[in-house]
Amino acid sequence: MAQFEPTLLARIHKPDSPALASYRADGGYEALKKALGMAPVDVINEVKNSGLRGRGGAGFPCGLKWTFLPKDHPGPIYLAVNADESEPATFNNRILMEKDPHQLLEGIAIACHAIKSNSAYIYVRYEYGRSYRAMQAAIDECYANGILGKSVLGSDFSLDIRLHRGAAAYICGEETGLIESLEGKRAWPRIKPPFPAIEGLFRKPTIVNNVETLCCVKQILQRGGDWFKSMGVPPDPNNPRDAGSYGPKLYCISGHVNNPCCVELPMGITARQLIEEHGGGVWKGRQAKAVVPGGISMGFMSASELDTPLDFNGPGKVGCLGLGTAAVTVIDDQTSMVDVLFNCARFFAHESCGQCTPCREGTAWMHKILNRVRAGHGELRDLDLLVEVASSMGIIPGTTICGLSDGAAWPIKNAIKKFRSEFEDYIKSGRKSVDPIPAGAH
Ligand SMILES: Cc1cc2nc3c(=O)[nH]c(=O)nc-3n(C[C@H](O)[C@H](O)[C@H](O)COP(=O)(O)O)c2cc1C
Ligand code: SF4
Repeated sequence: MAQFEPTLLARIHKPDSPALASYRADGGYEALKKALGMAPVDVINEVKNSGLRGRGGAGFPCGLKWTFLPKDHPGPIYLAVNADESEPATFNNRILMEKDPHQLLEGIAIACHAIKSNSAYIYVRYEYGRSYRAMQAAIDECYANGILGKSVLGSDFSLDIRLHRGAAAYICGEETGLIESLEGKRAWPRIKPPFPAIEGLFRKPTIVNNVETLCCVKQILQRGGDWFKSMGVPPDPNNPRDAGSYGPKLYCISGHVNNPCCVELPMGITARQLIEEHGGGVWKGRQAKAVVPGGISMGFMSASELDTPLDFNGPGKVGCLGLGTAAVTVIDDQTSMVDVLFNCARFFAHESCGQCTPCREGTAWMHKILNRVRAGHGELRDLDLLVEVASSMGIIPGTTICGLSDGAAWPIKNAIKKFRSEFEDYIKSGRKSVDPIPAGAH
């Protein structure tokens, strides 16, 4: 492969990178101009042909999702930009918004032209005050310079973009929870179907896309779908459901590494390369015991699985739920997996919205059982009980409304399978690393 040049993060170290003048000096909004000269269907086809899959976690093909909108709908059609970035250890959307907000706005405008929407909402994670302010300043610049409003860049296309501050919960990132929250309600996910493309925000057709996905859209229109498809990993011939993993990807590296960072690389890099070449190696001269490939809801890769390619298909081959957000978290060999799994369970028990009994009760039970194990009162049969509870909850067994439940269950099943002997030794030793946390306390 030729030398890789970052594109999504190309501008972030420039002085004044968020300013419109600096963005325009780098050719900003030329891709939008080009898109406005194309028929919407041609823009959709360019994105479809690029092979772009959503970067928010599920990896759904972006252009294909856009085609699910009803044909010739009188409108309004909405674009809801998912900037909730609620998956732990994920921080690439924050960098994109703070350092290059116009790249995102250009991607949004191109997407709105493609899907015939005149109104977009950016749902920004509550804690991201700096991102919110950067986006608002960029939106204001666009309105003042004819890039947003009634006549976008002098065309007959009009577009309004509004910011919405999130409601500070993990579930706000689930697309229908996000829509409910945008409507001013609590972020309780909706039963699907209908999917948002048919009935979404204010019951109108809505596309929900992640920040990084929309930044990729801008790059695709600027450089062409073929450029995007020229990097990454083709579909796995042994997996008929794999649509390939193309384009550049932002990988967040955190946990027990010397140099936590966010890097842009072609899809398919391995966890070992990320840790050693970009994360500065495992800290304190230790070894990795486990690595989370893409947010804790994906489960764990063991030390022997670090050469797995981190594309949409790779992590599944080693028993993880998927690539998720590509937020790679390293756990060193001095860290107890009992503690790690307890933290995961505590997080999901706190974040379950409570609508579905298997998720509400399952996450709470798993948290309580792990609290007991960690406090030295566990029994070996608790491990099977944990797996049994985890196996009964989620969209995959068909018992819940949304995927939070699958994400809560996966690390439990996967950690007990891969690190069972460590859990057994811990229980048999009667070790008590901490006092139990009182029930209900988080
Ligand atoms: C519990 C839960 C939390 C989620 N959080 C986020 C999030 O913070 N940001 C995000 O983009 N997608 C999140 N998603 C995925 C969204 O539902 C949706 O698939 C995504 O925003 C679609 O955008 P994309 O196709 O561009 O990836 C979450 C999903 C679930 C089940
Ligand atoms: S699965 Fe959990 S988070 Fe999702 S809707 Fe049901 S209770 Fe809420």
